[in-house]
Amino acid sequence: MSRMATKHKEAWKTFAQVFDRFTELAIHKLISKGVIDGLMGHASIGKEANVFLAQAKDRTVIVKIYRLSTCDFTRMYTFIRTDPRFPKLNRQRRKVVFAWAQREFRNLMKAREAGVRVPTPITHINNILVMDLVGDAMPAAKAKDQLPQKPDAFIADIIGQMRKLYKAGLVHGDLSPYNILNQHEKPVIIDMSQSTTPEDPNAKEFLERDAKNIAAFAKKIGVEVTADEILQKVKA
Ligand SMILES: Nc1ncnc2c1ncn2[C@@H]1O[C@H](COP(=O)(O)OP(=O)(O)OP(=O)(O)O)[C@@H](O)[C@H]1O
Ligand SMILES: [Mg+2]
Repeated sequence: MSRMATKHKEAWKTFAQVFDRFTELAIHKLISKGVIDGLMGHASIGKEANVFLAQAKDRTVIVKIYRLSTCDFTRMYTFIRTDPRFPKLNRQRRKVVFAWAQREFRNLMKAREAGVRVPTPITHINNILVMDLVGDAMPAAKAKDQLPQKPDAFIADIIGQMRKLYKAGLVHGDLSPYNILNQHEKPVIIDMSQSTTPEDPNAKEFLERDAKNIAAFAKKIGVEVTADEILQKVKA
C-alpha cells in the first residue's frame, strides 16, 4: 500500500469515530464530485469543527467539518439568529449547523471579493466547508505562535484588512492572534463563521472586541496602538 493510501486509511478511521453517517455521506459526495480525493489527516480539533487536510488532485486543501453532535448548538443558534441574512432559520439542530457552514462560506467569499487576505472558499455541502490551504503543504502557524518579525507592519496590515472587511459590510467577530495565520510574514484571517453584517445588533460589540484583541496583541509585540485608534482607522 502506498504511503498516501495508508494516510487516507488512518484519517478515515479517526473520521469514522468522530462523525455520523450523514457527514460520511457528504464526504463521499465531495469525493465523487472530484472536489477532493480523500482526507489526509487532522489539522485541528476546535470548539465546534474538526479541520482536516485533504488531497485535491495536485494540491492540498482544507476541509472544515462542523460537528452535528458535539457542537455548542445554543451558541450557534444565538449568534446566527441576529444575522439579517438568515431571517427564517428555525431551531432545528441540523439546519442551524448547515447554515453555520454556509455562513462561513459566504463570509469568506465576500471577504475575498473585497480583497481581504482570507483563504479562498471552494465549496460547501451541509456541515462541510472546503477552502484553500493557507500554508505550503502544511497549515501556516497562528500569529500567536509565530510572532511577526516586523510587528509594526504586521499590525498595520491587520488593521488594513479589518477596514476592507468593514467597508465590504462585514465584522469578523472572533478576531485574535488565534484566528490570524502568519503566512510568510503576512497576516491571513481565518475562522469567519460568526462574522456578520453591521445591521446585526451584535456587530458593534463584535467590532469593539476585535479591536481590543488586536490592540492587546499589538501591545504584546511592542506596537503602540489603542483599541479606539484601531476602531477609528477601521471606520475611516
Ligand atoms: N484555510 C486554512 N489553512 C490553514 N490552516 C487552517 C485553515 N483553516 C483552519 N486552519 C487551521 O485549523 C485551526 C482551526 O480552524 P478554525 O479556527 O477555523 O476552527 P474553529 O473550530 O473555530 O477552531 P477553534 O475552536 O480552535 O478556534 C486553525 O487555527 C488553523 O490552525
Ligand atoms: Mg478558530
